[in-house]
Amino acid sequence: MESLSRVSTIAYPALCAGSALALFLLISTWLRPTIEDRVPLPPGPQPLPLVGNLFALDRARPWLTYTEWGKRYGELVTVRLFGKVYIIVNSAKVAKALIDRHSAVYSDRPVIATSKLFGMDFNTAHLRYGDRWRAHRKMFHQVFRAEAVTTYHSLQTQKAHQLVRDLLDSPENFIRHLGSMSTSVIMAIVYGYEMSPQNDPFVEGISKLVGMTSSALTPEKAIILGAIPLLQRLPAWFPGAGFKRSATQCRKLAPEVITAPFDLVKERMASWTASQSMVSDLLEQIDQKDRVAQEQVIKDCATSAFLAGADSTQATLLTFVMAMVLHPEAQTRAQAEIDAVVGKDRLPDFSDRPSLPYVDAVLRETQRWGALVPLAVPHVAISDVVYEGYLIPKGAAVITNLWAMAKDNNVYSDPAQFNPERHITRDGRLSETFTDVSWGFGRRVCPGRYLADASVWIAIASILATLNIGKATGKAGYEIEITPEFSAGLAMYVHTNSIFLSPLFRD
Ligand code: HEM
Repeated sequence: MESLSRVSTIAYPALCAGSALALFLLISTWLRPTIEDRVPLPPGPQPLPLVGNLFALDRARPWLTYTEWGKRYGELVTVRLFGKVYIIVNSAKVAKALIDRHSAVYSDRPVIATSKLFGMDFNTAHLRYGDRWRAHRKMFHQVFRAEAVTTYHSLQTQKAHQLVRDLLDSPENFIRHLGSMSTSVIMAIVYGYEMSPQNDPFVEGISKLVGMTSSALTPEKAIILGAIPLLQRLPAWFPGAGFKRSATQCRKLAPEVITAPFDLVKERMASWTASQSMVSDLLEQIDQKDRVAQEQVIKDCATSAFLAGADSTQATLLTFVMAMVLHPEAQTRAQAEIDAVVGKDRLPDFSDRPSLPYVDAVLRETQRWGALVPLAVPHVAISDVVYEGYLIPKGAAVITNLWAMAKDNNVYSDPAQFNPERHITRDGRLSETFTDVSWGFGRRVCPGRYLADASVWIAIASILATLNIGKATGKAGYEIEITPEFSAGLAMYVHTNSIFLSPLFRD
């Protein structure tokens, strides 16, 4: 008893002193200016209470507003939506300095609340920074790194030749043909699967999933649902909550779409009839102790590759077609280059690429002019960074405005103009100063970029070598004029009803 009271007499003053110290530390932490008090956020438009800058934003094409704000406030702009901070990066120079240089800090993604709702949370592009994402990127690196993708060149060449044949057979279906080429490259590489030219069950399943997600989730809805996750709990009958019905269908469809082509590869491997593919190669290397988890990663990566790679390649080719119809002079110059280097007795192949700088300039300009993924995918800062006197606070979504970078007046003269010559030096070489922003930045940079670049290059080189793409003629015999139109969305597609194509076999 005595010893107990001794302990308490010793402990009590110590406890009091400890509490006083804790209180002092707590108060001084409250009073101590935080980094946000000392370092300002980048400038930006004045937010309204609660909604922030929502009403000032072109919600269908937010990149246009961000670009305008970039001109007013600078290369870094702070935007607030429903209390969340978004830092918009409007210049490639700053994106490189910030995201490429501090890539570990910017490798996270925001919680894309709708991703789970739509059953799309397997998608590599949506994964938070962590072990699961690292396992995905390891697989992508193995299959799609620069040295590995050269093994697909002959397959991509065959598909490009098939595209030319299809365009000649039924030019009116050019959109479908460009889509088939893009999709069939991915299906062959990922699953070793030769898809049927029409109504392929696997492709239809994935396309349905993509279609349902993108039509239910316009960028506008995505912004609002992302900012107020509670809205996702609204019942499907609630006015404006129709997306919940699509979400339920997507959640049912997604596991089927992910599993069906994967299971086919496994079946074919079991019967020794599988062609070599990303899935079969990865399955062969699987560690049996961790089979279930690793199979899931392979399945998820395979579907992510399809989701990210098929439409984007097709959309780039559509932009190329539109550019060629509108700019016959660029088409003629590229064809003359191919004729001079390759001749007329064979088609271009990848070994010709270094000798065809103008064709590469056309490709670069197609990507710059079309700015396919205008806001890339948001990154998230995992710690505070001070850049040029401004704070990029921990937890802020960092949005790279690839649109503004591709149309930057300080980098490109007359940026709205399609002009491949801007990428050619006086002595006719491909300029080395170009910063290609189309694939994003940092550790989340597009892992399919080498594959996509090769697919697009061989397709455009084969088309230019064999076909003249021009305006179609209407019933009265006049050429149909076209106005370039791009649809808005997470990716920007050429409005397919704004091109009328007439490919003619070249002499
Ligand atoms: C012309 C075609 C393509 C374009 C313009 C494109 C562009 C992009 C962009 C801008 C990003 C976001 C990068 C960032 O967060 O900074 C991205 C991410 C991604 N891309 Fe591509 N891409 C294309 C084709 C492909 C292909 C063919 C594949 C697969 C084979 C692919 C797989 C991915 C994946 C998995 C991600 C997410 C990466 C991550 O979050 O870690 N992409 N792409």
